[in-house]
Amino acid sequence: MAKRPFHLSWFLSQGYGPKTWRGDWPGSASDTARWMMPDLFLDLARGLERCCFDYMIIEDSSMVPYTFQGSHDTYLRYAASTPKLDPAVLVPYLAQATRHLGLVPTLSVTEYPPFLLARLINSLDHVTEGRVGWNCVTSSNDGAAQNYGHVGQPPHDERYDVADEFADLVTKLWDAWEPDAVVIDRDAPLFADGSKVHPVFHEGKYFRCRGPLNAPRSPQGRPPICQAGGSPRGQEFAARWADTIIAEAGTVEGMKKYRENIRSLAVAAGRDPDKVKVLFLTNPLVDLSMEAAQARRQSMRADADRHLALQLSTMSRLTNIDFSQFDPDAPIPELFTNGHQSSLSKWIGKTPREVAAGTTSRMGIDFTGTTDQVAGMMQEIMEEVGGDGFLFYHTYFDRRYVMEICDGLVPALQRRGVTRARYAHRHFRDNLLEF
Ligand SMILES: Cc1cc2nc3c(=O)[nH]c(=O)nc-3n(C[C@H](O)[C@H](O)[C@H](O)COP(=O)(O)O)c2cc1C
Repeated sequence: MAKRPFHLSWFLSQGYGPKTWRGDWPGSASDTARWMMPDLFLDLARGLERCCFDYMIIEDSSMVPYTFQGSHDTYLRYAASTPKLDPAVLVPYLAQATRHLGLVPTLSVTEYPPFLLARLINSLDHVTEGRVGWNCVTSSNDGAAQNYGHVGQPPHDERYDVADEFADLVTKLWDAWEPDAVVIDRDAPLFADGSKVHPVFHEGKYFRCRGPLNAPRSPQGRPPICQAGGSPRGQEFAARWADTIIAEAGTVEGMKKYRENIRSLAVAAGRDPDKVKVLFLTNPLVDLSMEAAQARRQSMRADADRHLALQLSTMSRLTNIDFSQFDPDAPIPELFTNGHQSSLSKWIGKTPREVAAGTTSRMGIDFTGTTDQVAGMMQEIMEEVGGDGFLFYHTYFDRRYVMEICDGLVPALQRRGVTRARYAHRHFRDNLLEF
C-alpha cells in the first residue's frame, strides 16, 4: 500500500442482542425471533474478515435500564440496550467462523473480579489462537452497580482509579507464566517448570490477589486492550493502558485534537504513541446514488423523531438523568452526571430533539453517498486527522447493510489503497501494529 493506510473496526452497538426487528427491508425478518442465536453475527464477522477489518467489539452492559420516566417500559418496548446476552459467549462462535479478525468482548472492571476477567481473556486468547482483545470499561449506569450488590456507581474519577489498579493486576496475572514455562518432558517428568511460574501477591487499595493464573501464558501474552474514556480522566487512563482507543469526536477538528491529546498523554505515560491506535466512530450509509443514500438517511432521521422516546431513553441511560423531565425543544441546561461525562458535555445547549437527531448519524460528519463518495470522504478525513482509522457501527444493521459495507464501501477504500487488502499476521495485536 503506497499511502499510509488506516485501520477498520466494527462496534456491535447494543451488543449481543436483537438488531433489525423493526426494519422494513424484506430480508430483515429472519433473525427476529432467533436473535439469540449467533447466525447474523457470524455473517457479520465473515463479512468483516472478507474486507480485512482489524477487529469487532461486542458492546455490553448488564442491566435492564430504568432511568427514563423511572421505568423499564421504554427500553423493553424498543429492545433498547436490553435484552442482550453475555458477549464472551459469542466469541468462540465468531472465532470458529473466521481466521484473522480480532474479537473484542466488553468486560467491566466494576463488575468482574480481576482474576476471573484475566482468566477469561487468557482462555479466549488460547482458544482463538491469539485473536482476542478486551474492551475495558468502567460501567456508568447505577442499575448495573445495583445488580452487583452496590447502591450506585463509585464517583466518576474514582472508577478510573479502580480501573488503573485493575488493569495493573490483570496484566501481572497475564505475565505470571513465563513464555517457556510449559516443558512437557515425559521422561523427567516435567509438565511445567515451577521456577517459571510466579505468584503475583498483589495487595492494593481495591484488590488482593495471590496469583498466578492457573493457565499458561496465552498466544498474545497481553491481549490488546481497547478503551473509550472520553473525559480528561478517562483519556488519561486510556492513554496509559489501551492499545486501541475508540472515540466519538464530532468534527474533523475534534478528531485531530482528541488524537493529538491521546498521543501526548501516551508519551507522558512513557509509551510509544504509534502503538496506540485511535479509531473514530462512524455510521456510513451508501447506496447507488447520493439521492438514494440521502433518502435512506432522511428516513432514519424521521424514524428517530417519530420515536423520540427511544433516543431520549438512551441519553437517560448513559447519564442516569431522566430526560423525560425536559422540554424536547428547549436547550439542555448545565447538568452534572456521574455517568458519561464526555457525552453530556457535548449536549449542553442543544435541545434534546437535536441531540436525538444526531444520534442517528453520530459524529456530526455525515458519511452518506455512493461507495466511492463515502470512501473519498473517509480518505480525506483520515489524511487531515493523521490516523488511525474508523470504528463502524449501525445499531440496527441487517445483512444488506453488512454487504453494502463489506462488499461495497470497503472494497472502494481498498481500491484507493488506504485500507488493508490482506492480513499479514495471525495475531490480532500484530495486525493492529502493522501500520
Ligand atoms: C464507541 C464507544 C463504545 C463504548 N462501549 C461501551 C460498552 O460496551 N460498555 C460500557 O459500559 N461503556 C461503553 N462505552 C462508554 C465508555 O466506556 C465510557 O464510559 C464513555 O466513553 C464515557 O467516558 P467518560 O466518563 O470518561 O467521559 C463506550 C463508549 C464509546 C465512545
